[in-house]
Amino acid sequence: MSSAAEVSPRAHLEPFRTRRTFAIISHPDAGKTTLTERLLSAAGAIQQAGAVRGKAGQRSTRSDWMEMEQQRGISISSSVMTFEFDGLTMNLLDTPGHSDFSEDTYRTLTAVDAAIMVIDAAKGIESQTLKLFEVCRLRDIPIITFINKVDREGLAPLDLIDEIQGKLALDLTPVLWPIGQGVDFKGYIDLLEKRVVTPQGKTLAEFDAIDDLLEVESLVDDPVFMTALETLELARAMLPDFDLKVFHEGHMSPVLFGSALKGIGVAELLRTLGDWGPEPRPQPALPAPISPDEKKVSGFVFKVQANMDANHRDRIAFVRLCSGTFTRGMRLKNVRSGKDMAVANPMFFFGNNRELAEEAVAGDIVGIPNHGTLSVGDTLTEGATINVTGIPNFAPEIIRRVRLTDAMKTKQMSKALSDLAEEGVTQVFRRMVGADWIVGVVGQLQLEVLASRVAKEYGVPITFEPMGFEVARWVESDDPDELKRFITAQKTNMAEDRADAPVFLAQNAWWADRAKQDWPKIKFLTTKERH
Ligand code: G4P
Repeated sequence: MSSAAEVSPRAHLEPFRTRRTFAIISHPDAGKTTLTERLLSAAGAIQQAGAVRGKAGQRSTRSDWMEMEQQRGISISSSVMTFEFDGLTMNLLDTPGHSDFSEDTYRTLTAVDAAIMVIDAAKGIESQTLKLFEVCRLRDIPIITFINKVDREGLAPLDLIDEIQGKLALDLTPVLWPIGQGVDFKGYIDLLEKRVVTPQGKTLAEFDAIDDLLEVESLVDDPVFMTALETLELARAMLPDFDLKVFHEGHMSPVLFGSALKGIGVAELLRTLGDWGPEPRPQPALPAPISPDEKKVSGFVFKVQANMDANHRDRIAFVRLCSGTFTRGMRLKNVRSGKDMAVANPMFFFGNNRELAEEAVAGDIVGIPNHGTLSVGDTLTEGATINVTGIPNFAPEIIRRVRLTDAMKTKQMSKALSDLAEEGVTQVFRRMVGADWIVGVVGQLQLEVLASRVAKEYGVPITFEPMGFEVARWVESDDPDELKRFITAQKTNMAEDRADAPVFLAQNAWWADRAKQDWPKIKFLTTKERH
């Protein structure tokens, strides 16, 4: 943080304008964890790079609450890391990389204003990158592209740019251009600060126009540099100039080549995010979008996480503030339940530490400890009836009946499933006929997490069994009588979700399709807003 003597050039801004709230999206192994560590250490938030990682033998700053997560070496849950940089407050929301957890990731992306897309230079666009990109596109989230691992052999920069533009239909514009790759890697050309830099960060030359570099003898004598310059010129001829507005609209991405592992391009990435990254954006809501400069406080829960810290058996709702200035102790209304709550112990998450949040503004992420009063999708306000939109449940792709091995524990099981459903770990349905407990998840791994947590945290051993349904769709209709007729006719295939909304269960896609044709006035929905 800057000392009192230094005045940040951003000191005159309204506080919310100094927030940058973002996520890193990538395919597993592209280097997200390494980049996160480097970003934090570049910003001085942690001393020792390596502290973020939850891998064996290392200290972990996050989500070490589940052995399974560590054993598998994947990050199942999202969390937030806040750090200061250049007069800005950066809120980095971590998204789980595993595809089974796309729902959680999706919700986290509803809470960010920008994303860094990390691509492995040897692999280009991979399946998970594409999926996550599409989620960002749904909300036109501005994206900065970081092409990682230039210290290794990879695809040629122009081929990578071609592939990204082609697969994502996104305009790119270069910011950092590599000089060689792999063993030939000799540094980079920084188009923002107009300098040529060695891998160690030493400035080799400065320029006004790129052509000036042709006067620098030590560079032009080097064939690797000349090739880099030529490809950069080709790229610039082919690509549009940077346009802040188009970037903020989500249609243009500044691209930096670097190496998370070697710390190359990381400071420049932070600077790009700081200088160009958007301030908090208006939040889609009903009856109207919430502007970040509105005076009254509003926010929404995008994640609930249990047992963040083994020493405190707690449950934290992560709230993204959308407007106003929140102060500790303030009373906020949960619009879903209509209940007021005094927020006595809101928290910020700095590096390894939690701190009490005395004051927070739009863009900030505040953790609110609670015992089940807050669920994913809830909107909090100073009293106004506003509902933040766009935080849906997804139709489960795996539907299972829950089997309890100890019949005496029905009550605990019901509590466990209901708690975990509020966290967004699973969805729970009740059949309209019979007394089955049904859970629905998007991926297999979610089932394993569910069983493990119910056993460990609630002492209830459960198993799952298939029940002959593969497809679930929420059903709605503009004609209430038709909906009633449908439900009556399909009674044995009907269930209700936790909000009592009717859900149609079909044996497979063919039957689901058939129902759609037979009942043209019924809408079969794959997503449902969580309020
Ligand atoms: P992820 O979170 O996206 O899954 O990726 P992570 O950071 O864990 O990185 C995946 C692997 O790629 C790691 O190697 C990491 O060291 C390596 N890596 C990340 N950035 C770079 C880079 O810029 N250059 C090179 N050469 N490698 C990079 P690993 O051997 O799988 O893991 P570890 O044993 O090093 O922890």
